[in-house]
Amino acid sequence: MAIVLFGGEKGGTGKTTLATNMAAMLALQGKDVMLLDTDRQGTASFWATVREETDTEPRIACVQKFGKGLVSQVRDLADRYDEIVIDAGGRDSAELRYALGVSDFAYIPIQPFQFDIWTLQQMNDLVDMAQGLNDNLQAFIVLNRASTNPAIQEETETRAFFEQEDFQNLTLMDSVLRDRISYRKAARDGLSVVEMKQDKKAIQEMTQLFKEVYGGN
Ligand SMILES: Nc1ncnc2c1ncn2[C@@H]1O[C@H](COP(=O)(O)OP(=O)(O)OP(=O)(O)O)[C@@H](O)[C@H]1O
Ligand SMILES: [Mg+2]
Repeated sequence: MAIVLFGGEKGGTGKTTLATNMAAMLALQGKDVMLLDTDRQGTASFWATVREETDTEPRIACVQKFGKGLVSQVRDLADRYDEIVIDAGGRDSAELRYALGVSDFAYIPIQPFQFDIWTLQQMNDLVDMAQGLNDNLQAFIVLNRASTNPAIQEETETRAFFEQEDFQNLTLMDSVLRDRISYRKAARDGLSVVEMKQDKKAIQEMTQLFKEVYGGN
């Protein structure tokens, strides 16, 4: 089992999209998964509610938790579930810091057109601090909403930039998710793109990410 966090300081980068898709894909493998929503906006919980109201199987347990008790609550949940997926973030979020303190893996989505060196440096420092308390923590950056237009070189540019800067605590993932309407549609319907079955490319991207996060099982 692993405690996996989808987080970051910046808003709207795809944290909830990734967390909900991973949770659904784990559940489709028969895993007993807890989706932990630590964001007061409640986007992941809303997704889980839509899923429940539409009687979508497999069922996914989702709870909202905030504040100081988060660390002990996550540890407690980890004893009761096969997998924990945490959605955390927002500027100066205490929940993101607590979640980093208790997670095994943190995945930080960034959008190639939106990222800046300051954000990455800040995440690098935050992970550094969290690793002082949590030996297990490994952190990764995942490119989300990259352009589907091959003429736009943003992926190559981001990779080159990353190599040059050499953030010590952040690894850039091979998987890339592109800007596709199906990610929005699936989110609205309480589904993963894999369950929506409408967009082969989105399914392929999300499956590759899933494999990179959870291994080839
Ligand atoms: N690859 C993608 N292609 C198209 N739309 C996307 C993609 N990823 C995310 N989105 C859309 O972008 C918006 C923000 O995504 P999401 O809610 O996952 O981000 P977030 O980081 O959780 O945001 P917040 O900081 O508000 O919690 C949503 O409307 C989502 O459907
Ligand atoms: Mg969110």
